[in-house]
Amino acid sequence: MMKDLRSLSGMDLRLNEEQLRLNFGADMFYPDGEVRTLQQARPMLADTQAQGPDHLYTIYMDIGRKEDFPAIEEQGLLYGSVVYNHGTLGNERLRSQGHIHSEKSGTGLRYSEVYEFWTGHGQVYLQKECAPDVTRAYLVPFGPGDKLVIPFGWVHLVVTEGEEPVSFGAWCARENQLEYAHLRSLGGPAYFFLADGTLARNPRYTTVPEVRHATPADFPLLGIPTDRPMYTSWQENPELYTFMANPELVGDIWRDF
Ligand SMILES: [Fe+2]
Repeated sequence: MMKDLRSLSGMDLRLNEEQLRLNFGADMFYPDGEVRTLQQARPMLADTQAQGPDHLYTIYMDIGRKEDFPAIEEQGLLYGSVVYNHGTLGNERLRSQGHIHSEKSGTGLRYSEVYEFWTGHGQVYLQKECAPDVTRAYLVPFGPGDKLVIPFGWVHLVVTEGEEPVSFGAWCARENQLEYAHLRSLGGPAYFFLADGTLARNPRYTTVPEVRHATPADFPLLGIPTDRPMYTSWQENPELYTFMANPELVGDIWRDF
């Protein structure tokens, strides 16, 4: 089935739920979708031999309206999108591998990203440290229309729930690199998210806090409006997103979060 994402995303997008792919209107620029497979995600799973769908998710980096491309590039921004499969990987809920973002040189701060969910349900998992000792971990439930700014430097991943494919958009910095290696060396996040709704601790961590439950509204949105697509609010007021490429303008407001 094709799902119309125009009013939620602010762009000419449709979701092909069977193929886990986006269809783009004639006024859009976009790359070929990259498929992430179960094979690639195995080092990050509780059970590295887990059975599950081979096609985990499809990623589109750098999409937008053709007429907007010069302004997006000039501002150092990049808009990406991901479409997830649903189901389980062994006894875990289907999820992304998790990563951290690269540091902007000279600032001591890692890049952020803004998520906007379009379809499906699940939780964003946030973990403050990408290290064996963790001081903060959050699970943040999401549904269509929810937006969330990822705290600078935190591990983040998306855990899916239910039968409907999760799809979302994300604004981030063009310079940002996704870093997987350190989290992979820890065997994934500090917790695994089991199909029965419980959590299992990753034994490779030394200190792990209780997971706190929070809502998207508990996290600073830095002035990004919640009543319209973040692509639309960028078109109306690009300055709202200047902090994406310039984390030093904000400072680490999540330091004591
Ligand atoms: Fe990210």
